[in-house]
Amino acid sequence: MARIVVLTGAGISAESGIRTFRAADGLWEDHRIEDVATPEGYAADPALVHAFYDERRRAARAAQPNAAHRALAELDERMPGEVLIVTQNIDDLHERAGSSRVIHIHGELGSARCEECGRRMSWTRDLAGRPACPACGARALRPDVVWFGEAVYALDEIFGAVAQSEQFWVIGTSGAVTPAASLVALAAEAGARTALLNLEAHDDVRLFDEVVLGPATTTVPAFTSRIRETPRAPRDPGAAPPSRGATGVSR
Ligand code: APR
Repeated sequence: MARIVVLTGAGISAESGIRTFRAADGLWEDHRIEDVATPEGYAADPALVHAFYDERRRAARAAQPNAAHRALAELDERMPGEVLIVTQNIDDLHERAGSSRVIHIHGELGSARCEECGRRMSWTRDLAGRPACPACGARALRPDVVWFGEAVYALDEIFGAVAQSEQFWVIGTSGAVTPAASLVALAAEAGARTALLNLEAHDDVRLFDEVVLGPATTTVPAFTSRIRETPRAPRDPGAAPPSRGATGVSR
């Protein structure tokens, strides 16, 4: 189990040039979720959906990890086996920065799934040309991305890790989508120290022991540099969870 679990969203990749969803210039300003991020939208117009994800796959490949991704990777290196990233992002910038334990709760642009044989496979090319599935030959490959109304990936593993965590950080997400948005309540209940690092405050800021507002490339390196290897405190199963600290908002 990881001592530090980090939930990231589109905001951590924003300064790498990858668009977020709900900002004024976000993806959901140009596209209706129903059209490009639901099974119904895919069934109605697969070409539109493939074009949407092919373009995002190309943009993600052209982007580079930023200082926030790198700071988390450096912490992972400093504390081997103690840092788990649960990302809502479908880009691979955490991996390319060097993070070793990343769970993509909403899937990945770098993976495709065959609707005929069910296999998931690493994928880097466009899907618009309906390439044949390498495993079964069917022209039934779709983006291996979790659409609205579909089950997210690895939820049991994620719940288990959050429930055992000592620290739970939320970085660059609006908290608009469950079950990812519900994880902070689980962490707080388990007695983890919680922190929000985001460009702007959330509605549920009261759930966080600490709130650090600002761009991730500034706040994340400063925040992770405070974390030094400290001996794991023996968890007394009978102890009451630490009292919730005041929500200190620091800029
Ligand atoms: N640094 C830190 N935070 C930032 C930055 C930045 N440079 N830029 C934007 N943010 C913050 C915004 O303030 C916002 O709260 O990142 C958040 C982005 O929110 P969304 O666009 O809603 O993206 P996200 O929270 O990841 O969306 C969750 O919704 O549509 C689905 O599947 C999609 O995984 C996505 C999920």
